[in-house]
Amino acid sequence: MQNFTFYSPTFFTFGKDAENQAGSLVKRFGGTRVLIHYGGGSAVRSGLIGRVQASLHAEGIPYVTLGGVQPNPRSGLVYEGIDLCRKEKVDFILAVGGGSAIDSSKAIAAGTIYDGDFWDFYSGKHIEKALPVGTVLTIAAAGSEGSPDSVITKEEGMFKRGASGDAIRPKFSILNPALTQTLPPYQTAAGITDIMAHLYERYLTNTKEVEVTDRLIEALLLTMIHEGPRVIADPDNYEARANIMWAGMMAHNNACGVGRSQDWNSHNIEHELSALYDCAHGAGLAVTLPAVFTYVMNHDVMRFAQVAVRVWGCQMDFAHPEVTAREGIEKLRAFFTSIGMPKNFAELGAKEEDIPTLVKALCRGDGRQGTIYGFVPLNEDDCTKIYQLMINP
Ligand code: NZQ
Ligand code: ZN
Repeated sequence: MQNFTFYSPTFFTFGKDAENQAGSLVKRFGGTRVLIHYGGGSAVRSGLIGRVQASLHAEGIPYVTLGGVQPNPRSGLVYEGIDLCRKEKVDFILAVGGGSAIDSSKAIAAGTIYDGDFWDFYSGKHIEKALPVGTVLTIAAAGSEGSPDSVITKEEGMFKRGASGDAIRPKFSILNPALTQTLPPYQTAAGITDIMAHLYERYLTNTKEVEVTDRLIEALLLTMIHEGPRVIADPDNYEARANIMWAGMMAHNNACGVGRSQDWNSHNIEHELSALYDCAHGAGLAVTLPAVFTYVMNHDVMRFAQVAVRVWGCQMDFAHPEVTAREGIEKLRAFFTSIGMPKNFAELGAKEEDIPTLVKALCRGDGRQGTIYGFVPLNEDDCTKIYQLMINP
């Protein structure tokens, strides 16, 4: 195991009606003027924004609102939010929604108190300071409620890039699984896929002797395999939604990733798909993960065989571990299909003729030098072959 530090100071409140604590939590974490930042309207229609406003009102905390965050959130609204926060002297950002509303809030939080262009943080500059952020989560997926990360798409060039820093870890996150019951099945499934991707990206490590984090990841993957189909069959199943929601947080606050190298090439490869086609991030991952895993499997076939046996119940073929490894990858692909996720380029809305554009943005865009680094370094030729594997798997 590698040396590591782990800092995960977010205060979580979990369960039914937890959103009514928003006002008291903002007060506890020092907010006196709030921006409520939310998405395209689901939180307004469900009455959630109204309940959050009432909770702030009850604590005597003034607020302004800014809705309209799109899935795969854009830089334009971030600039608007920064201007609004400066003008209104906002000192706390409350995100209400999913990863997109939360990530946009984190970008505004860092950008408001920064003299330069907030995009500097998405071009490699570490985030040292930000306004405090709290979240009311409405979809179990991105894990942004417990992560130090934010992903934004720059409209000029449509580059989708991440920024990081402990300063943008939420001060508190409110997790009420009942809020996720209004999700369309496709979004529920995309969320399940993203959670599993966050686990796999950590499982694919070049660090030896990491049994504790391997076992934690396996437990969370098994939970998703159990609860995923239950919630797709019965969207009102509160207990299944509760387990998925907490798994989503556990998968991405890095408790399962400490002390080990991680991959993240699948996320980078997917981000170009959701940047170009505006598909759901999880749907893009459902097509991406099996393709990447098939391509890199031989780098450490025993790692893929291990997850196949321990998580997917495959029989170990000691003479031909690559057979076991491949079986595990096919079970993962079949699982994604079974919950309604796409399995190829066409179902995702992606086009073969765009592969050179995808590869250029991935390997050369925004200052990259032709290779992306993770479990296995991948150059432009590798990435071209991986996108080709998604056409007709
Ligand atoms: O915008 P509204 O109207 O709210 O609709 C949203 C949106 O259309 C809808 N939705 C959310 N909660 C709902 C609901 N509809 C009905 N009832 C509810 N309770 O679902 C759609 C997707 O929402 P979004 O916030 O985009 O989903 P998600 O949480 O999957 O976030 C995706 C974004 O997070 C990034 C992704 O790249 C993508 O941009 N990621 C962020 C990470 C992080 N910050 O740590 C890590 C991830 O790997 C990921 O890259
Ligand atoms: Zn993700």
